[in-house]
Amino acid sequence: MKVGVPKEIKVHEYRVGLTPGAVREYVAAGHRVMIETNAGAGIGATDDDYRIVGGTILTSAAEVFASSEMIVKVKEPQPSEWCQLRENQILFTYLHLAPDPDQAKGLLKSGCTAIAYETVTDPHGGLPLLAPMSEVAGRLAIEAAGSALKRSAGGRGLLIGGVPGVQPARIVVIGGGVVGTHAARMAVGLGAEVTIIDRSIVRLRELDELFEGRARTRFSTIDSVEEEVFAADVVIGAVLVPGASAPKLVRRSMLSSMRKRAVLVDVAIDQGGCFETSHPTTHADPTYEVDGIIHYCVANMPGAVPLTSSQALNNATLPFGLALANKGFTAVLENPHLRAGLNVHRGRLTYEAAAESLGLPFSPIEQAAA
Ligand SMILES: NC(=O)c1ccc[n+]([C@@H]2O[C@H](COP(=O)([O-])OP(=O)(O)OC[C@H]3O[C@@H](n4cnc5c(N)ncnc54)[C@H](O)[C@@H]3O)[C@@H](O)[C@H]2O)c1
Repeated sequence: MKVGVPKEIKVHEYRVGLTPGAVREYVAAGHRVMIETNAGAGIGATDDDYRIVGGTILTSAAEVFASSEMIVKVKEPQPSEWCQLRENQILFTYLHLAPDPDQAKGLLKSGCTAIAYETVTDPHGGLPLLAPMSEVAGRLAIEAAGSALKRSAGGRGLLIGGVPGVQPARIVVIGGGVVGTHAARMAVGLGAEVTIIDRSIVRLRELDELFEGRARTRFSTIDSVEEEVFAADVVIGAVLVPGASAPKLVRRSMLSSMRKRAVLVDVAIDQGGCFETSHPTTHADPTYEVDGIIHYCVANMPGAVPLTSSQALNNATLPFGLALANKGFTAVLENPHLRAGLNVHRGRLTYEAAAESLGLPFSPIEQAAA
């Protein structure tokens, strides 16, 4: 198959759909991969790095779109990209269609077959192409907290791990899923005193075994959240209620009872945030203060480390991308997990939850593919 990788054009997006290592795998499997010039610049991969592994460099996105049967990207296509997609062309990327009616319209109009990373499933009911970015965000959350805790950044002037004879920071992680677990691992590794709060007892049992006493676990109630937040130096917001906005677990009225200049890192900001006082920020200006509490609410945290993020994303997408390149649309029909990723096919919306949110008609895959 002819596979195309355009340069990402969303503002401040430095990741790339296929790393040179991934291109080598596609080429080894007999596919032709065309990469837009400078597509890998954000991760330090030169055009020559792609040529060495057998990729072909094209000078414009237009050429990549025109000559490829499958486009592999990172972010949802931008308006200038919708019109370059066409029927019988596969698009494999993050889409986040539900809150984006213009995107849905653009893709439906193009007639392309769009498979969204974020809805591809695995046999354990997980979302394998979303998880790597949660891992990155979770780990980054502690780095972000460490920076924000510095006095020069407005924080309490506290070192996360303390030093011998001096208390470490007290870190509370609300939500013990992928983000929360990776945040807790980093915090424990740095020597912080860590508590993880979750509303799933099953998850709390798993975490208890995983951390073997190096992190405490607590069931999520209004009481436990209040008690822990009031005593914390850092609170990481990492809850997710699938398909819904994040619950507001820390209210503004609670801030005045917290330690002055404590830090809130709201990783769940992409779902509206789990602190009442959160609003999205950017890497250029990541923090702000409300009632003496430092807030960090960057909505695309993995964008800060595009090299790590691109590699982690490519590791996860590779088997699915190769299946698509090997078998085309048949891979979607044969593999239930790829099938779960199908959002748009030949002008029809094939992902029920997105169709519902958008108020547009839903077509089951059998109907759309007929
Ligand atoms: N800001 C970013 O750049 C970025 C990057 C990646 C992920 N995220 C976001 O981080 C959030 C967490 O993602 P994840 O992959 O860890 O999700 P996940 O499903 O793996 O984990 C969420 C956890 O929250 C728990 N939870 C739900 N309601 C709760 C409550 N009331 N109290 C305590 N715990 C509760 C769940 O039981 C679950 O264990 C999501 O909103 C995700 O979109 C943000």
